[in-house]
Amino acid sequence: MKNFNRSDYCGNFNAKNLGEMVTVYGWVQKKRELGKLAFIDLRDRTGIIQLALDDTADEKIFNIIRETRPEDVIEAKGIIRERTAKNKNIPTGDIEIEIKNVKILSKAQTPPFEIMKSSEVNEETRLKYRYLELRNPSVQEKIFIRHKISQIARNYFYDKGFIEIETPILIKSTPEGARDYLVPSRIFKGKFFALPQSPQLYKQLSMVAGFDRYIQIARCFRDEDLRADRQPEFTQIDLEASFVDADDIMALAEGFIKKVYKDILGIELETPFKKISYLEAMDRYGSDKPDLRFGLELVDIGNIVCDCEFKVFSGAIKQGGSVRGINAKGLAGVLTRREIDGFTEEVKGCGAKGLAFVKINEDGSSSSTYEKFLTDKENEEIRKKMNAESGDVIFIIADEDETLVKEVLGILRCSLAEKFGLVNEAYTKDGKIKPNILWVVDFPLFEYDKEEKRYIAKHHPFTSPMDEDVEKMESCTYEVRAKAYDLVINGNEIGGGSIRINNPKIQDKMFKILGFSEEEITNRFGFLLEAFKYGVPPHGGMAFGFDRLVMLLVGAKSIREVIAFPKVASSAELMTDSPGEIDEKQLSELGIKK
Ligand code: AMO
Ligand code: AMP
Repeated sequence: MKNFNRSDYCGNFNAKNLGEMVTVYGWVQKKRELGKLAFIDLRDRTGIIQLALDDTADEKIFNIIRETRPEDVIEAKGIIRERTAKNKNIPTGDIEIEIKNVKILSKAQTPPFEIMKSSEVNEETRLKYRYLELRNPSVQEKIFIRHKISQIARNYFYDKGFIEIETPILIKSTPEGARDYLVPSRIFKGKFFALPQSPQLYKQLSMVAGFDRYIQIARCFRDEDLRADRQPEFTQIDLEASFVDADDIMALAEGFIKKVYKDILGIELETPFKKISYLEAMDRYGSDKPDLRFGLELVDIGNIVCDCEFKVFSGAIKQGGSVRGINAKGLAGVLTRREIDGFTEEVKGCGAKGLAFVKINEDGSSSSTYEKFLTDKENEEIRKKMNAESGDVIFIIADEDETLVKEVLGILRCSLAEKFGLVNEAYTKDGKIKPNILWVVDFPLFEYDKEEKRYIAKHHPFTSPMDEDVEKMESCTYEVRAKAYDLVINGNEIGGGSIRINNPKIQDKMFKILGFSEEEITNRFGFLLEAFKYGVPPHGGMAFGFDRLVMLLVGAKSIREVIAFPKVASSAELMTDSPGEIDEKQLSELGIKK
């Protein structure tokens, strides 16, 4: 005999089922007893249905119902009937199941928090009991949407001829910029596997192998400090294709994003997406993932203050740096001194030496930390260039490091917009919020790492330089642009990729500029260079940050909300309490401890 005989999920019944004898399974969400009447809200992944027990019911059944408690797992059999007191708040609110039989399949202790009130609980408790938090339909829904997006991705790319290839998880350390997670080898004592920061090299080797179009929903591991949009293990929708150029990959990506927004949110996006160059993004917004939903653009005032008496400004310019500002339009009336101090602390925390400002009050009077050091003409020119009028606040940062000035103002720009609600959303005809989507292109191939005193790859060392810049790789390294593109939605980096180097000579030059010795090149990338000797198609690809994409589509604040079992900021997983100790025997087998 079959043990389980579910007629349907709780949320799927409706008036069409009236009179049917059904069997349902689920968790007791709520129970009400009114004398010999009893009602249970039974919950499963589709929703809730009310079970009702009449005073005519068998004493035995009544006793079982009396025993049930919230979160018990039960089986109930009964007849679907019309509900007397209809509940308009739930889809099954017109009907109920008149209980004929009931069985408790599993008793539940009192949970540490009420499932439907999980959002009121602190994160530590929620994550320790994540399986309980996930019972809350509004939490669970995000995981369902995640599933739907992965299905859309697979179907979309399969239809375009991409095939799914699983690449290994235990690999040789590949440099993608972050720290590797390492796994000690038992057999080769003292040697380590690394967990992939991305499947980059394997997807390229799949192109050498002739698969032509690869996709994988791939787990990636990076031992970095966490933020709201970063987890140590996260998922990419990872692609690679042969005989393509950057426009082909961007068009494929646009088609996918368009489909996701249409299918999940019913929003019709216009393609092609806007493109802006890296230099423009940095100059105007101080970020390579600019949020264009608000202004607060950066303004260069270097040529006004280069010879001024205020050494903080003129000194920065003389040392080859920069002085730039942003005009917080209309905020003079709301920005308190304490808030300005808070922003000053924030920019200092990001490496700036200070934050100069002028607050121009509505009555024309002003208070400033720097204007007294400048001539009237200089002050006037700054105000004019920054389009400042009564009611505005100008913030200025000076530093010998131009990139720092831009990046810190870029952060301040976002903080101001967030704090004062300056984000201007665009709406579709039917009143839905349109995402702000753009490509950042023309990235530099290299950036200079001041700590390591050498060039590092802006994306990764396999990114191709622009054809017209190849000659400049050694002479004007900093100017070389890459065939790389990043996809930015509402100020989040949602994906990135590039056309790869497929010429071994250029690859070799790249490694040399990055400071790898012949020996390091052979040890770390020998297999790739070897593969490239046997006929390598021109190829390129990209990877979407799947968690971040889902986060945007469900309107979550952190990617933690869209990962079934996430880690907290310290990289720990609270539910299983990992990382954990391992025993002496394991350590000795791995040769880590005698
Ligand atoms: P990249 O390092 O830019 O490129 O990663 C691609 C996308 O992955 C997401 N992402 C993350 N999401 C959550 N937590 C993290 N710690 C995290 N790090 C990155 C971002 C990012 O845009 N192999 C290349 C792709 C390629 O060139 O094809 C790569 O991994 O959304
Ligand atoms: P100081 O003369 O150092 O007291 O600086 C005068 C004002 O300029 C203070 O408000 C500082 O916060 C600000 N300031 C100092 N250094 C910088 C800098 N590098 N960029 C912008 N403002 C600065």
